[in-house]
Amino acid sequence: MSFPTTRLRRLRQTPVLRNLVRETILTRDDLIMPLFVCPGTGVVNPISSMPGNSQLSVDMLVEECRRLYGIGIQAVLLFGIPEHKDEHGLVACEHNGIVQQAVRALKKALPDLYVIADVCNCEYTVHGHCGTIVDGDVHNDLTIETLARQSVSLAQEGVDMVAPSDMMDGRVGVIRKALDEYGFYNLPIMAYSAKYASSFYGPFREAAESAPKFGNRSTYQMDPANGNEALREVALDIEEGADIVMVKPALSYLDVIQRVKTTFNIPIAAYNVSGEYSMVKAAAANGWIDEKRMVREILTSIKRAGSDIIISYHAQDIVKEL
Ligand code: PBG
Repeated sequence: MSFPTTRLRRLRQTPVLRNLVRETILTRDDLIMPLFVCPGTGVVNPISSMPGNSQLSVDMLVEECRRLYGIGIQAVLLFGIPEHKDEHGLVACEHNGIVQQAVRALKKALPDLYVIADVCNCEYTVHGHCGTIVDGDVHNDLTIETLARQSVSLAQEGVDMVAPSDMMDGRVGVIRKALDEYGFYNLPIMAYSAKYASSFYGPFREAAESAPKFGNRSTYQMDPANGNEALREVALDIEEGADIVMVKPALSYLDVIQRVKTTFNIPIAAYNVSGEYSMVKAAAANGWIDEKRMVREILTSIKRAGSDIIISYHAQDIVKEL
């Protein structure tokens, strides 16, 4: 029955009515806050391209997490800026590695905070690529061995979940096998499954000091033009034992999130990345947009597309309103 019998505006007339029929509700349970940990004590080093975010030394990270936990953030995703880097990123596997220290301190101070560690080599290699370089390109099969070592090392410090973001083939399987061998069969893997070679990571690379020193990441991260390939990536990661699959970035890839949602039956995470965050902050700083409304709209759209989990630097702002 069409107009005038059907009038879709009928259900939009009051806030209560709109609340009653709202299809997508963002909650604090959906959110993960990314954080950057660096060496030293008392260090709070603001990241200029990501207002509101800083590189934090372990002690300051603990304080920041105490604050975040107090306002309703239940899960954080850690990235490390190490004291020294090496050719293969092996500093990321050390008992006294920067993220290892952070995990120990956080699990001690805030045992209920859910601590996830990004697993990748780009922050730890001198060349800034996500793995071991052989003949000018990242060598897949050597790299996945270091990623497995990194994962086991983080598990041994008590991390709650690992999130490999390197985009090597077969890494989820190798990490799963290594974790199981060491008895961590209950430690979940959130795989960055469909991770695109994106310009939206720019501010992050300043934050994590992880920009590649030569070339780019196009031989391992996905071509932004491809959607079908994302489904193949996700299928393989599920087969290899991923517990949660991720699409990254989020906003330019809402179609991919939706396709993953309708094709598979597995929790989906979306990463609302640094460049997406910085665009909003820059426009807000200029008074061009209503930041609060825009952030809510962005995060709601990511959930509406099918994401169960949203990783976002906006988490610390929006959580206060949820
Ligand atoms: C590491 C990694 C990156 C991001 C998360 N993990 C950067 C990259 O691939 O260069 C980006 C996150 C963001 O932009 O917020 N591989």
